[in-house]
Amino acid sequence: MCGIVGYAGRNQAASILVDSLKRLEYRGYDSAGISLFNGELATHKTVGKIADLEAIIPDDLDACIGIGHTRWATHGKPETRNSHPHVSGNVSVVHNGIIENYMMLKEELIEKGYEFKSDTDTEVIAHLLHQKMYASDKSIDLLTSMRETIECLEGSYAIAALCTDESEKIIFARKDSPLVIGVGEDGNYAASDVTALLKYTKDILYINDNETGTVSPDEIRVFGQDGNLIKKDIETVEWDIEAAEKAGYDHFMLKEIHEQPTSIQNTFAGKLLELEGNIKLDELYLSKEQIKYLRRATIIACGTSWNAGILGKYLFEKLAGIHTDIETASEFRYGNPVLCGEELTIAITQSGETADTLAAVRSSMSYGCKTIAITNVVGSTIARECDSVLYTRAGPEIGVAATKTFTAQLITLYMLAIHLGRSRNFISPDDAKKLIIGLKKLPGQVQKILNRKETIKECADIFADRRDYFFIGRYLNYPVALESALKLKEISYIHAEGYAAGELKHGPLALLTKDTPVVAIATKGHTYDKILSNIKEVKARDATVIAVADEDDTEIEKYADVVLRIPSSHELIAPVLSSVTLQLLAYYTALARDCSIDKPRNLAKSVTVE
Ligand code: G6P
Repeated sequence: MCGIVGYAGRNQAASILVDSLKRLEYRGYDSAGISLFNGELATHKTVGKIADLEAIIPDDLDACIGIGHTRWATHGKPETRNSHPHVSGNVSVVHNGIIENYMMLKEELIEKGYEFKSDTDTEVIAHLLHQKMYASDKSIDLLTSMRETIECLEGSYAIAALCTDESEKIIFARKDSPLVIGVGEDGNYAASDVTALLKYTKDILYINDNETGTVSPDEIRVFGQDGNLIKKDIETVEWDIEAAEKAGYDHFMLKEIHEQPTSIQNTFAGKLLELEGNIKLDELYLSKEQIKYLRRATIIACGTSWNAGILGKYLFEKLAGIHTDIETASEFRYGNPVLCGEELTIAITQSGETADTLAAVRSSMSYGCKTIAITNVVGSTIARECDSVLYTRAGPEIGVAATKTFTAQLITLYMLAIHLGRSRNFISPDDAKKLIIGLKKLPGQVQKILNRKETIKECADIFADRRDYFFIGRYLNYPVALESALKLKEISYIHAEGYAAGELKHGPLALLTKDTPVVAIATKGHTYDKILSNIKEVKARDATVIAVADEDDTEIEKYADVVLRIPSSHELIAPVLSSVTLQLLAYYTALARDCSIDKPRNLAKSVTVE
């Protein structure tokens, strides 16, 4: 996730762009840049925050038109050369989104003589715009070039571009990434969202997918996919700045829960080869031979990432036949691991900076193990130190309680397990295909859960005053139980325990009373009958059962007091849907208890000390 801005007007563009970018920093903050037109193209960019960019922009930069970008790296480390804008000759571009087919386009452009200066997917857009305007036999304007360029792109984008030959306007395009246009008195604006523009205007045009257009000081033109001019109504927003950063949500956590249809899509963008029944993981530096003879994998992580790792263990064993251990990093680093060089260590860490995880991975490296990092932060320490990195591409997460980064980790683990399983011929292309189809359905299914969130809120409100909560699940639903209990205790301060449902009878049943809600994750699968038996054990102790169940399950109501429904899905993939449901349960419980949801007491987002 990145933020883009543009301005064409009668005021100094640099200060407007910098100010607007500061409001978009929540969308990404590892590097930034601007391009302005002051007779020629003046481009300034740097690693770091917008304040670092501000420090390198010359005071005497006299320009009234420009574009800007704040970056959250997905392709290429946070380095100045990977920062936007990307320039091709006299064309400059900023982009938010992911171009899935950029490798193929890059090869074609290199053959045509274009030289790439960055590792980003975005740079192909700059060269394509330039090539279509100047290097083909016909002469076309920037808008036409943009239309022809987006025809070549697969993926998501909000783009703003400048060209010195058409220096009075900015050209934009949008598909699957947000873009708004601001209508001002002294000029007009483009931005990833209204937050960036509130200081200058509250009059907004919302750009839809497949629309393109131009922003000039006195005119805004928007065109549909068919090239026809569209008349758009101006909408006036009433938000204040703080509400706008949260896109109108009360908390970042709720916003981030709602971003999951998009973040899940971004995690698997360009990687699911449905027809071949395979996963494209070019970032994995493991040869076919190494994968074939893998004897054991060890997953190392902390907190939420460790819960994701348990699901990873089950998936690697089920789909790839690889014996897998899951270790909490803080224990592993002081244990006596028995490892050898032909083994694999997988570190899962959202931040890429957790001290215990880094130390544990370094320890496993000392045995000669191959290492893979699964992280959300490009260029983080773990990403630099491991042999391979799989980025989860969930975008920045501000709420301390991990939500969208957790589901992104799960999606990455599915993809890695399928890839390993196919490489070892452990699962058939058909079985892989079924899973891929299941993954592709997830964004729509998560959206369905979000649309029904009121039911989850009602449930949360009923039990918000309880002292203890239990979460139980079996097999793949066991890590969901652990993660859901962690989420609830982190933000609502209710004592919550996640348990393997079969273990209840070995102790925790003694704690159940009629006042204890027990959430049973009871999705369809080969342990379904077993969890029904566990629910009966719970009911026999008079506790209240909240079941998370498939929408086509007609049995469950006979057993549970409250049922939270999720769309029916592939058995192995249902944990993603149950997790989103229970993230909302935790959120609404904390809301009812008036807790500090985005910054829970005593906790930190990134734990860089032991
Ligand atoms: C902290 C955060 C958790 C996170 C854990 C591990 O405790 O509050 O949300 O799961 O660190 O962080 P990592 O960045 O390694 O995933």
